[in-house]
Amino acid sequence: MRDFTDRVAVVTGAGSGIGRALAVELAARGARLAVSDVDDEGLRETVRRCAGRDGQVRGYRLDVSDRAAVLAHAERVEGDFGCADLVVNNAGVTLLASVSDGTWEDLEWVMNVDFWGVVHGTRAFLPLLTASRGHLVNVSSVLGLAGAPMQSGYNAAKFAVRGFTEAVAQELRADGVPVGVSCVHPGRIRTNIMRNARNDGLRDYQAVREHFERSVDVTAEHAARAILRGVARNRARILVGADAYRTEILTRLLGPWYPRPAAGRGRRPVTSTGRRPR
Ligand SMILES: NC(=O)c1ccc[n+]([C@@H]2O[C@H](COP(=O)([O-])OP(=O)(O)OC[C@H]3O[C@@H](n4cnc5c(N)ncnc54)[C@H](O)[C@@H]3O)[C@@H](O)[C@H]2O)c1
Repeated sequence: MRDFTDRVAVVTGAGSGIGRALAVELAARGARLAVSDVDDEGLRETVRRCAGRDGQVRGYRLDVSDRAAVLAHAERVEGDFGCADLVVNNAGVTLLASVSDGTWEDLEWVMNVDFWGVVHGTRAFLPLLTASRGHLVNVSSVLGLAGAPMQSGYNAAKFAVRGFTEAVAQELRADGVPVGVSCVHPGRIRTNIMRNARNDGLRDYQAVREHFERSVDVTAEHAARAILRGVARNRARILVGADAYRTEILTRLLGPWYPRPAAGRGRRPVTSTGRRPR
C-alpha cells in the first residue's frame, strides 16, 4: 500500500503518542480514519487535529482488551466506512515491576491490553482486510526482540505479539490471502507511555520516568513516518530508532549472550525487594 489517499485506516490507542501521530500523518496523506482509545479527551484532541477533511475522521471509545467491544467495533467501522484497508493495533501500556514484586492483576492488565488487544483487533478485522486486500500492522516493541530486567510482563506481551503476528503472516501467505502483515518494534519513543505505566515496587520510578522523558529524542511523528514507510514497502518487520536496530543486531550476533552487553549499560535499575509474589 503505497498511496493512502481515500484508504480507510483503523488505529487503536490513537489518543496519544504513536497512535495520534499515525492518525495525523494518515489524515495529511488523505486517508479516512476510524480512530479509537479509552481516553475520551485524548481521542477528541486527535480527531480535532485530523479533522481537516469533513466526515472523514471518526473517533470511537474502545477498550481493546474487551473482546466483544472490539468485534462490535469492526462491525461499526464496516457500517460507517464500508471497508477497512489498514488496521494498526497500536494501543498499549507498560509495566515496570520485578517478577517478584509485580501483582497478578498488573501482569494480567499488561497481557490483556498489549497481547489480547492485538489478537482481538487482528481477528475482528481480518475479514475486512481480506476483502480489501489490505494491510495489518501490530505494534510490538524492541522488548519483543530482547528481554530486560523489570520488564517481564511487558516482555511477555510484546514477544507474544511478535510470535502471533509472524505466525499470522505465514498462515495468510500459505493460504494465498492477499493481506500484508507488519510487526513494529519501536525503540524508545518520546510519548506518554511512562506516565501511564504501572510500577509495582519500583522504588525510583519517578527518576526512571524523568530519565526516559529527558533522554529519549525519537518523536512519535518520526515513528509514524517510519511505520508508514514500512507499510508502503510491505516490510514484515519494522524497526524504529537506532536502539531498535542495535538490539536486533545484538540479538542476532550474540544469540543467548545478548543480555550481558545490554544489561551492562545499566539503564534499567533492578530494585526488586525479593518479596513473594502477591
Ligand atoms: N514509547 C515507547 O518508547 C514505545 C516503545 C516500544 C513500543 N511502544 C508501543 O507503542 C504503542 C503506543 O504507545 P505510545 O508510546 O504511543 O504510548 P502512549 O501512552 O502515548 O499511547 C498509548 C495509547 O493507548 C491507549 N490505551 C491504553 N490502554 C488502552 C486500552 N485498553 N484500549 C484502548 N486504548 C488504550 C492510551 O489511552 C493511549 O492513548 C504501545 O503498544 C507501546 O507498547 C512504545
